[in-house]
Amino acid sequence: MRVLITGARGQVGHELMRLAPQGIEVFGLDSQALDITEPAQVARRVAELAPGAIINAAAYTAVDRAESDVQRAYAVNRDGVALLAEAAEHLAIPLLHISTDYVFAGDGDRPYREEDATAPAGVYGASKLAGEQALAERCSRGLILRTSWVFGAHGNNFVKTMLRLAGERDELAVVADQHGGPTPAASIAGALWLLVERYREQDSLRWGAYHFSGAPTCNWHEFAEEVFRQAIELELIERVPRVRAITSAEYPTPARRPLWSVLDCSKLERQFGIAQPDWRAGLHQMLQQRRHST
Ligand SMILES: NC(=O)c1ccc[n+]([C@@H]2O[C@H](COP(=O)([O-])OP(=O)(O)OC[C@H]3O[C@@H](n4cnc5c(N)ncnc54)[C@H](OP(=O)(O)O)[C@@H]3O)[C@@H](O)[C@H]2O)c1
Repeated sequence: MRVLITGARGQVGHELMRLAPQGIEVFGLDSQALDITEPAQVARRVAELAPGAIINAAAYTAVDRAESDVQRAYAVNRDGVALLAEAAEHLAIPLLHISTDYVFAGDGDRPYREEDATAPAGVYGASKLAGEQALAERCSRGLILRTSWVFGAHGNNFVKTMLRLAGERDELAVVADQHGGPTPAASIAGALWLLVERYREQDSLRWGAYHFSGAPTCNWHEFAEEVFRQAIELELIERVPRVRAITSAEYPTPARRPLWSVLDCSKLERQFGIAQPDWRAGLHQMLQQRRHST
């Protein structure tokens, strides 16, 4: 089976390439090889490769920039997804797509379930929700995996920022009133490959939206403290900075972040036996990888 991966150089795209199962012929295209907002490129690439499935790991992910770059955010996160969905439908193949906790308002008091009402607070979340809708309207074999707080060895993320700041500062302020599930990019890739394999075995899947994020739930301040705890143990940093807990109000950003980002991931486990990964173990693997590469 041949699988086309878009956004192959992103955090998740990279892990999809690294973790591709045997017996699957993977074609990973980065944004230069395939810009998903270009109809002619999408049509040509998909026709050339004739994949048996597409995984869309491409997205406009600059949450703050999206507030002032609305057109581009929608071009990638909605219109690009629509083009891929049409191409997948034309070939009668599945499109596996990644979405986000930011589709929710972020004011819940229990983990969000797939069918809960969406109400994105910013442009990024709204553009991702529009992408989900574009996919659902166009593609009868669409699967959406909503995830949160992604980190991995490749690309930019919170873990890498914390490691850098540990070398630069004695004290950091990190928000402690936003709750969610950090998710290793490698775990997302692993879950997507399991779904592809299941599709390959059964020639079908139960399509629709699923939640997938790391456990246990934490806040960014706790996440930072765990990064430093593991990093000092692995001798990746020389000293642990003091981490001061602050509120979101004390750390204003162009895009408002959800205070409550916790996803109920039981549907994916019930349906496919894919359990939530422990993000602390994923963090350990990422840091070890980093240690061996320095
Ligand atoms: N990062 C998070 O914390 C987070 C949280 C929840 C959900 N997600 C979702 O998870 C998925 C993967 O995110 P990620 O963290 O791996 O993102 P990422 O590291 O920013 O990777 C996204 C990739 O998409 C590519 N891309 C952007 N515009 C494109 C276009 N027009 N055509 C083709 N490729 C394009 C980018 O390439 P260039 O760099 O060359 O532009 C980049 O390599 C996304 O759907 C994202 O919305 C992420």
